[in-house]
Amino acid sequence: MSISPLSSTAPPLTPRLSSCWRDFLADRQLPAALVSGLGSPLNLVMPDRLLRNAEAFTGVYRRLRLRGSLYFAHKANRSTALVRRIAASGFGVDVASVGELQHTLAAGVPGARIMATGPKGDDFLWLSGTAGAIVNADSVAELERLGTLIRRHRLPPVRVMIRLSRFAAVGVSVLSRPSRFGVGADQLDMVLDTLDRYREELVLHGTAFHLDTTGLDEKALAVEGCLMALARCQSKGHTPRAIDIGGGFGIAYLDDPEQWHSYARVLNDSVLGRHAPITWAGYGYGLKAERGAVRGTLGVYPSHRDKAGPAYLEALLACEGPRLRRPLSTMLLESLVELDVEPGRALLDQVGLTLVAVREVRDGPDGSLLVGLDANRHDVSAEEHGVLVDPLLLRADGVPPDEPVRAYLLGNLCLENDLISRRAVHLPATPRPGDLLAFANTGGYFMDFAATDALMQRRAATVAVRPAGQGWRWCLDAEYWPTEGEQ
Ligand SMILES: Cc1ncc(COP(=O)(O)O)c(C=O)c1O
Repeated sequence: MSISPLSSTAPPLTPRLSSCWRDFLADRQLPAALVSGLGSPLNLVMPDRLLRNAEAFTGVYRRLRLRGSLYFAHKANRSTALVRRIAASGFGVDVASVGELQHTLAAGVPGARIMATGPKGDDFLWLSGTAGAIVNADSVAELERLGTLIRRHRLPPVRVMIRLSRFAAVGVSVLSRPSRFGVGADQLDMVLDTLDRYREELVLHGTAFHLDTTGLDEKALAVEGCLMALARCQSKGHTPRAIDIGGGFGIAYLDDPEQWHSYARVLNDSVLGRHAPITWAGYGYGLKAERGAVRGTLGVYPSHRDKAGPAYLEALLACEGPRLRRPLSTMLLESLVELDVEPGRALLDQVGLTLVAVREVRDGPDGSLLVGLDANRHDVSAEEHGVLVDPLLLRADGVPPDEPVRAYLLGNLCLENDLISRRAVHLPATPRPGDLLAFANTGGYFMDFAATDALMQRRAATVAVRPAGQGWRWCLDAEYWPTEGEQ
């Protein structure tokens, strides 16, 4: 039977899944037993994988003969097990609130391996100061407040990084977008004046940026800008030693790049009405039709990325600085400057997975199904973060999947807009109440970043798992210690 374009479906978006998670999901008992005992949704983390990912970043440093520190961006996941794993590893943690700082110190990470970023109240500044953390300052006013606080409380000098933004692109057409964070790179002299006034209290450790972009050109401009700013600080008698390029190294969520490209094509056609709807109420993810043409920008994360994580870092360091026209890694080497990074998402690649129970299944529009889940869009917030991937189906009866279906995933909040996915996902068979859906790669921002107990729904428990012999060991997140498994 031929299928007309109007009735054909969009391609699946199959998640990349490590062999470890595949093995875990293939266990006939454990996933179901965990959800039955601890409730749905249930977050799972594999702390050892976090370490493996951090070591892959170290590999880039080794290959390029660079020095510097890696700080895990805590904000991407609240798990205690993960921070304790980092504590035992020698890597650092980037904390973005006083709560994260307390959590990190309690997990056993020494203050000297902590970088305090983001908006800071006096509590956050004071605790960073007493702990001996580096304070990554966002503004001259913050530096001023920190200097005063250190002086007033007679604390030892604090290492500071200056976060910069709005890097000037002279003679090149690279955009350096505005940011609510950081001091304009052209305002460095104000920073230097402030540092001069607090010579006893503040020690300049380096210059920094974090850009929310996948664009290499924009980041290369910022790396070079930080190096130039660092040189200027040195010329003024300071002895900074590092630049910190933040996070944003990314994850490739999909197995097959072609699926992503064809999904984007079909979405385009669907927005234009040349293809049957593939999203809830014709939602266009930022695209809309205007006089027969698609307008707008696809506002989603590139679920497939050619280069992500350590490979993205390596590609960035191979770029030339737009002014000096030399590879960034060479500039770092020659200037003997250390490179600090704060990856969140990339370090969590294949670290987490979320299990959700199916509550009910009904008929939906255009031949799709409506699958009601025991979780809401804040518990599994991939969609909210613009990451489009299909979940995996674990059937309670273990019967192999038969006929694929398209389904909209409904959350358990009494709200019209509580859809866990606004695109119709592909499932290999019609789910039944009691089956589980497994959402892959939720560790970075999708499992607890947005979770709330609005409507007094249960918040997911988190469990740490690791392979042990032929089976698995697991424990509640708070019960995980890095000595686990040592004899
Ligand atoms: C200052 C800073 N560092 C690091 C990160 C981590 O970014 P990612 O998780 O994309 O690596 C963020 C994220 O917002 C950030 O604001």
